[in-house]
Amino acid sequence: MDTNPQTALDVVAGVVAKPRVLVLFGGRSGEHSISCATAGGVLRAIDREKYDVVPVGITPAGRWVLVEDDPDRWAIIDGRLPEVVDGPSRVLLPQAADEAGLSLLAPDAAPSALGRVDVVLPLLHGPFGEDGTLQGMLELVDLRYVGAGVLASAVGMDKHFMKLVLAGQGLPIGRYTVLRPGAFERNPVAWTQSVALLGLPVFVKPARGGSSLGITKVDDLAELPAAIAAAQVHDPKVVIEAGIVGREIECAVLGSPDGRRPRASQPGEIVVTDTRHDFYDFEAKYLNEAGVELTCPADLPAAVNAEVRELAIRTFEAVGCEGLARVDVFVTPENRVIVNEINTMPGFTPFSMYPRMWAESGLGYAELIDELLQLALTRPTGLR
Ligand SMILES: Nc1ncnc2c1ncn2[C@@H]1O[C@H](COP(=O)(O)OP(=O)(O)O)[C@@H](O)[C@H]1O
Ligand SMILES: [Mg+2]
Repeated sequence: MDTNPQTALDVVAGVVAKPRVLVLFGGRSGEHSISCATAGGVLRAIDREKYDVVPVGITPAGRWVLVEDDPDRWAIIDGRLPEVVDGPSRVLLPQAADEAGLSLLAPDAAPSALGRVDVVLPLLHGPFGEDGTLQGMLELVDLRYVGAGVLASAVGMDKHFMKLVLAGQGLPIGRYTVLRPGAFERNPVAWTQSVALLGLPVFVKPARGGSSLGITKVDDLAELPAAIAAAQVHDPKVVIEAGIVGREIECAVLGSPDGRRPRASQPGEIVVTDTRHDFYDFEAKYLNEAGVELTCPADLPAAVNAEVRELAIRTFEAVGCEGLARVDVFVTPENRVIVNEINTMPGFTPFSMYPRMWAESGLGYAELIDELLQLALTRPTGLR
């Protein structure tokens, strides 16, 4: 049941109050700085005539602090990665579903009210942000938020369960194996043989990672133990995939109001042109813009374009996604489309693929933010 239907349109003294948006970013994952960069873009573009903004950063240690509402503070400039720094006061969420307000807790002082929040915009990537944990916390107190719910976030984050869900619904994925914590160490010879069956190269990945952190392309089985150890820096569970030869194509999906079908953007293509990168790794994604070409729309035959968009929507629906997601696929030389992954909180700076693909499809960055906020403001809380 929707216990809080009024929040989006609270009437205060005869004036329709602006929805108050908690822009939440930073966080505990390895993608902390990327989240800050996204927040910089959003703080610059969000329509201040229409929304009040409360920027809240989460430090790498997980502390919630009120931060500067300054887009420049959060940009990646000359390779310097922004970070939320701790301060003396803490931002507290409402403690119960019938309390809509945030509080600020300062040392040696009683908690002070920070006012109500109508919607949370969680611009968090990776574990403890994009993986359902934060979403669960917001569900508990009936706070509306942008994007996927608890289950879809968790499934989208975990490449193991993502593959199970996609395969279970007949979507095309590549071959892979999963190393649970400790499994390789117990039997390295058997595991090396089973990885060899995938054929080389393989991609060794943290199951719940992002931004290519901890991923190694392995061309020689002798490199396997080191690659597994590198992935385990991020996650004790590791996914190993057969390398797929194909173009890297992405598609942005946006939820629709009133139970209508989600929308798919024009697909984009990523071509890593700098040969120092073996694949689309962390440096290629964020630190070497000149070494990567992002093309939108991707130059695809019409039938392949349509298939990518259809598969992107089916992937979005397969994991029960809401709001937004970027679906990444490979298109093989024979024009087979294979789903690589779904990202329930994709990179969202104005230069990121998700907003760029929408811009190319006729929806600008500020309007995109507005659409996402409106979708979240009008969706009911509780089971949907
Ligand atoms: N099975 C694969 N075959 C070929 N390239 C891959 C494969 N898996 C990953 N890659 C390369 O590694 C990059 C990052 O992998 P991805 O699964 O998207 O992880 P992340 O969640 O960190 O973005 C991809 O964009 C692609 O360049
Ligand atoms: Mg990816």
